[in-house]
Amino acid sequence: MDTHRIEKGLAVPKPRPWFGRSIVNRLLANTTTYLTLGGDLNVCRSATAAITEYIERHTSGPDAAPLWVQRMRVDLATVAGGLGSCDSLGGTRIISRESVLKAAKLDSLDFFFTRHSIRHFDDDPVTWEEIESAVEAAQSTPSVCNRQSWSVHVYPRGDAADAVLATQNGNAGFGHTASQILVITVDLRTFVYVGERNQGWIDGGMFAMSLVYAFHALGIGTCCLNWSVDRQTDQQLRSIAAIPDHESVIMMLAVGRLPETLPVARSLRRPSAELVKPGHLWADTTQARAGGATR
Ligand SMILES: Cc1cc2nc3c(=O)[nH]c(=O)nc-3n(C[C@H](O)[C@H](O)[C@H](O)COP(=O)(O)O)c2cc1C
Repeated sequence: MDTHRIEKGLAVPKPRPWFGRSIVNRLLANTTTYLTLGGDLNVCRSATAAITEYIERHTSGPDAAPLWVQRMRVDLATVAGGLGSCDSLGGTRIISRESVLKAAKLDSLDFFFTRHSIRHFDDDPVTWEEIESAVEAAQSTPSVCNRQSWSVHVYPRGDAADAVLATQNGNAGFGHTASQILVITVDLRTFVYVGERNQGWIDGGMFAMSLVYAFHALGIGTCCLNWSVDRQTDQQLRSIAAIPDHESVIMMLAVGRLPETLPVARSLRRPSAELVKPGHLWADTTQARAGGATR
């Protein structure tokens, strides 16, 4: 979280000089401790790179670094010494509009209109590599402070998938034909204050959607399977599947290959004009009442 606070502070047009001093100090202290405890080296490298860029960006001008930064440099050098190259793992990087537009260009929005919930799968299994590849793409989903709380538990067709599906109420007639059943979870330990009590549902839901589209991009069919259950059913799943208590289940996802032809539900959509609404302030409403509404 703190690494990301530094990164995002450096990504704005005009970072406030020496913004977030207490965060930078805390990040360096925690990185030092975490490293001593045998923590994930890339997490340490990412923090080190962010702090290094923070100092470099602030000292590129004529002004001398404040005393606290001079002291911090010594500790930073100690941490960085054992980490090797950190640069590409943290801080910011420059991208061009052209590169984004080129890579993101779709000829039409048919990519979205051709995704359907698939309830009729081919026998040919989806490979582990394909699942990893879809997950890697879905990893680019934004998450609060880049916390990436999500996990994907994979249950292959057969006994494992059937056991998990037995706890879910929307897979009758097709769940058992899916190549794998994925259980998407979030790690509640990544959410730290009461205001974040629902954040897991947001981050987990967004990740799940990315995963659905990643499979779609690979030509693999999916069907979301709700986990709208009471505590007893949640416990029932946990008594079968090795899902740690600190993970909340967001939903399941049936994945499998598409047959040559297959039926899909039409699933009529509401017209978008119905959902796109000009945002109004209460103040506008009062004015509108007095003088006539404008768009
Ligand atoms: C969170 C979530 C849970 C869902 N659960 C189920 C389910 O349990 N069984 C099922 O057959 N479809 C399930 N669906 C699929 C919806 O029925 C489907 O997305 C919707 O009707 C729109 O159709 P489409 O996905 O084909 O566009 C779920 C969808 C979402 C987003």
